[in-house]
Amino acid sequence: MNLGKKTKKELLEIIRQLTQSNLSAAPNTPEENLYRILSQSSQVGFYIMQDKKFRFVNSHLRDYAGYDEDEILRMDPSSLILPEDRRKTRKNAVMMLKEQRFSPYEFRIVTKDGRIKWIMETVMPITYQGRPAILGNSMDITERKEASHRLEELEALESSILDAIPQAVVGLHERRINFANSAVKIVFGWHREELIGRSITIFYRNEEEADEIGRRFYSALVQQRTYETEFPCRRKDGSEILCRMKASRIGEKLREKRIVLTFEDITEQKKAQEELERSRQELRNLSVHLQSVREKESTRIAREIHDELGQSLTALQMDLSWLIGRLPDDSPVVREKARSMSRLVNETIESVHKITTELRPSLLDDLGLTAAIEWQAEDFQKRSGINCQADIRFTGGLIDKDLATAVFRIFQETLTNIARHSQATQCEVTLSENEKELCLEVKDNGVGIKLQQIDDPRSFGMIGMRERAHLWGGTVHVRSIKPSGTMVKLLIPLRKGE
Ligand SMILES: Nc1ncnc2c1ncn2[C@@H]1O[C@H](COP(=O)(O)OP(=O)(O)OP(=O)(O)O)[C@@H](O)[C@H]1O
Ligand SMILES: [Mg+2]
Repeated sequence: MNLGKKTKKELLEIIRQLTQSNLSAAPNTPEENLYRILSQSSQVGFYIMQDKKFRFVNSHLRDYAGYDEDEILRMDPSSLILPEDRRKTRKNAVMMLKEQRFSPYEFRIVTKDGRIKWIMETVMPITYQGRPAILGNSMDITERKEASHRLEELEALESSILDAIPQAVVGLHERRINFANSAVKIVFGWHREELIGRSITIFYRNEEEADEIGRRFYSALVQQRTYETEFPCRRKDGSEILCRMKASRIGEKLREKRIVLTFEDITEQKKAQEELERSRQELRNLSVHLQSVREKESTRIAREIHDELGQSLTALQMDLSWLIGRLPDDSPVVREKARSMSRLVNETIESVHKITTELRPSLLDDLGLTAAIEWQAEDFQKRSGINCQADIRFTGGLIDKDLATAVFRIFQETLTNIARHSQATQCEVTLSENEKELCLEVKDNGVGIKLQQIDDPRSFGMIGMRERAHLWGGTVHVRSIKPSGTMVKLLIPLRKGE
């Protein structure tokens, strides 16, 4: 007998016919053998029930229930079923036997070792040993059930995540919306249900822009998985918003323009950012203005002191010399007094010179940046006792006067800091240039500097240096160096033709 070509229905019919005779009555008949083969090789569980007892249970069913043959034949079949599923299962079975139900039903059993399994079953009435009996076909569907349960949980989790995020998320297929999360209401004012099936152009200001952003997304997503940009969008009420958008394709390759888009309304954020940038710029302009006013004021005061005070003092000095020359030789006390007056006037002239130079180093105006830096380094060494070597490799003579002032003032602040904070004994200054930049580097061998001292918003010296450099598109880097000390590096782009 060829079993392979029989349909399930035909097989069931064979079983029905077989069970109408006494199974054990004719051992070793071909039918008996067929029955045994069927019951052992079948991938479904089946059983025969009569008088509320199992009369036969195949090995597959015994395996998944976990009982051996003796145990299962002696037990009450309904005790296999999970108590809360018993009533419903009995009802389903009765309906099926009366041919009022045709689809399989599901219920849970408790295995011998206490595990719960999902079973799918059909039953049919048969005659067994001349009396009515039930033939049951059952299948262990636990894994399938758990997988679908996990899938359901995953789907629920997915949709809660999508609803929890504040960005609008839409799924697109050939540029039509086939999914939208609830945040589309917040971002665009549309209900998600209103959007399904509609073209994505609904989110943009016009057709041209919709086409443009579509082109950008789809051409980028052929190569890469995600693409991010900012783009103007339109809400349901017609108002315009700026969105940060991120597109990612669904799957390994871009097929049928299937992508997911997220939209974040950044209109307010952008405005605040621009406002912040504007007020920062205003502050910068103000500080530039104040610096230039201060610079001019210093120059004016320096000039006035030099012209008025300096000239008067020189005249006074000349008069004193004249007087000393004419004093009689026999009055040494008067002569000594006059000499001490002359020394005092000389010292005062020197102080005036020092003050005017500090106010506005005339070298900077007369001989330019390099000479002023060299002179300042020497002067610093003399006054502070810190050995200061200057290595000047800067030739670019013609730089803007205001730029030279800025570099010089930054240099002065650096030296002042070394004198005040570093406890250094040595300091090296290098002024150099390359094709693009001017570079001033000042290193000391002192105690070094901490990051918080550099970044402290109250470090006005540092802020002033950075602001001056920023005005010329430059930067100031400050850091500790090995084995000890601090380095300040100023870089300023040199614009050709200046
Ligand atoms: N060469 C240096 N070596 C060690 N510490 C330094 C050096 N230069 C600066 N510092 C540290 O960095 C801090 C900030 O310097 P900054 O020039 O901004 O402020 P300041 O010199 O204290 O005051 P001012 O506003 O008068 O310049 C200093 O207080 C000091 O602690
Ligand atoms: Mg300082």
